[in-house]
Amino acid sequence: MAESTLTTDAMDFVCTLVRNRSAIELESNKGYLVEARLGPVAKLNGFGSTLDLLRSLRAKPQPQLEHAIVEAMTTNETSFFRDTHPFDALSRSVLPARIEARKVSRTLNIWSAACSSGQELYSIAMIIREQFPELLGWKLELLGTDLSETVFERARQGIYSQIEVNRGLSAGRLVKFFERSGAQWKLKKEVTDMATFRKMNLIECWPTMPQMDVVFLRNVLIYFSTDTKRMILSRVRKIMAPGGILFLGAAETTLNLDTSFERVTDGDCVYYRVG
Ligand SMILES: C[S@@+](CC[C@H](N)C(=O)[O-])C[C@H]1O[C@@H](n2cnc3c(N)ncnc32)[C@H](O)[C@@H]1O
Repeated sequence: MAESTLTTDAMDFVCTLVRNRSAIELESNKGYLVEARLGPVAKLNGFGSTLDLLRSLRAKPQPQLEHAIVEAMTTNETSFFRDTHPFDALSRSVLPARIEARKVSRTLNIWSAACSSGQELYSIAMIIREQFPELLGWKLELLGTDLSETVFERARQGIYSQIEVNRGLSAGRLVKFFERSGAQWKLKKEVTDMATFRKMNLIECWPTMPQMDVVFLRNVLIYFSTDTKRMILSRVRKIMAPGGILFLGAAETTLNLDTSFERVTDGDCVYYRVG
């Protein structure tokens, strides 16, 4: 593991700042990671090193710099159809059941909380276009939210690199749903128009949300403390429709955190149903 030149005080300062703003728990032995992520922020803002940047911040609060630090410390790893199984379960059983439950109101709401650069929500949009086109005539809301402005702005644009489209997308879907944009690939307007992206910090006040049929809250709880996980799960439960489905990441669970979710095994996928 690489050595870090950060002092314990400097590391404590970053951990506290990031925890207070995002609830992300950084491990205090990850100085090398902090330096790798904050080095570019320091350089961009004219500091000689990460340590100089942190010294300046400790001497005087600078909201813009603090914001840049929190953004830099988020992990935005994602891909189209990530882990495959949740998307298979969505097409096989979750969407058919929600369509049946909502056939009178013809309203369906799906939320990708912590959506990063949007691949998760757009994967859902592609499934709807391919397998549930009747939903295009419904009042359908596909909402993506994230703490990081950098990533949800990218999500809004719907432009991805060759490497990003190589991860998880079949050649058929690439041709069907994307067009070339220089060296990159842009999602067709018919797909981007289906989704709405907004900034939202899961630990701050939530805006009024519609009753959610399906929530993807994947690969974000892992960064939080047990108390924060409990708090967020309880808030998620309150905005979900009866019978609504919650998908978590493969390393995440509601077990020992919130007993109001029923754990459902569906093929190779585990998801959680609200009673
Ligand atoms: C690893 S990505 C997960 C992306 C996607 N859900 C997936 O599974 O592929 C985690 C995302 O959580 C976001 N995040 C971290 N803390 C957050 C918070 N307090 N509120 C909202 N989003 C947060 C990060 O900005 C990042 O984009």
